[in-house]
Amino acid sequence: MRREIKTAVFPVGGMGTRFLPATKAIPKEMLPVVDKPLIQYAVEEAKAAGVENFVFVTGRYKSALEDHFDHAFELERGLEERQKHHQLDLAHSTLLKPGQAAFTRQQMALGLGHAVLCARHLVGDEPFAVILPDDMILDDVLCLVQMVRAYSEVGGNMVAVAEVPGEHTDRYGILDGDPRAGALIPVRGLVEKPRPEEAPSRLALIGRYILQPQVFEHLARQEPGAGGEIQLTDAMAKLIGRQPFHGFRFSGRRFDCGDKAGYLEANIAYALECEAMREPVRAFLKRYR
Ligand code: G1P
Repeated sequence: MRREIKTAVFPVGGMGTRFLPATKAIPKEMLPVVDKPLIQYAVEEAKAAGVENFVFVTGRYKSALEDHFDHAFELERGLEERQKHHQLDLAHSTLLKPGQAAFTRQQMALGLGHAVLCARHLVGDEPFAVILPDDMILDDVLCLVQMVRAYSEVGGNMVAVAEVPGEHTDRYGILDGDPRAGALIPVRGLVEKPRPEEAPSRLALIGRYILQPQVFEHLARQEPGAGGEIQLTDAMAKLIGRQPFHGFRFSGRRFDCGDKAGYLEANIAYALECEAMREPVRAFLKRYR
């Protein structure tokens, strides 16, 4: 029996410098897209995929993330007294069941691979998912749900991929594999942020992963790679040939919310999905043509 994905890791320790000064006192994962912070979309996607354990790898000045998934006692009491039931439901909608959330700190910003390694003992000897909340994917079937379905067929390790413009390969982990394969692309290699002339393809890793626990053994020994950081991509590359490893071409529109224009576009796209906002947003957009 293939073990189900019950744990998801959210690396949320980053400083969010690209959004300063907005992120001076709040974590970038608390920036809202329409009315929910990025982290909540990520958690809801994991829940939809069947995840029951949520591991947040945070850092200093990130306590708002922890508070977001807890009761806000005074706020809730006030809403109760004023019989604001709808708002109370919204405040409660972020709560995770007792014991479902674990928070650990990445003490030093040593890279994504190091952040995932920090979750090792909270994940244990189980396959797990990693979600990078900056990458939002809009689709009726959420990306991790699509991946878990594919994983139930092929097992092993899986990374979400999407084609990016050739000149952008140095922003992503890039997969070496046949782009003509179907939705599941057998992985021949993985390279972190290659220059366009060295990139084996234009298939970029987008922030959704399903990984086997053996990746931790490689992460623990991983030397710094691109940008002087301990890269998840480099540790994953060591699993190729030892375990099944696929790129998964997901359906849906992807927004890079680590980038200001991408973040703004996500806000518009998600607002247009929301019935109450669709018309007013369409109306004002006309004024910017
Ligand atoms: C990270 C990963 C990279 C991946 C990207 C997706 O890079 O290291 O492989 O393609 O996320 O968003 P970062 O954006 O943290 O530099």
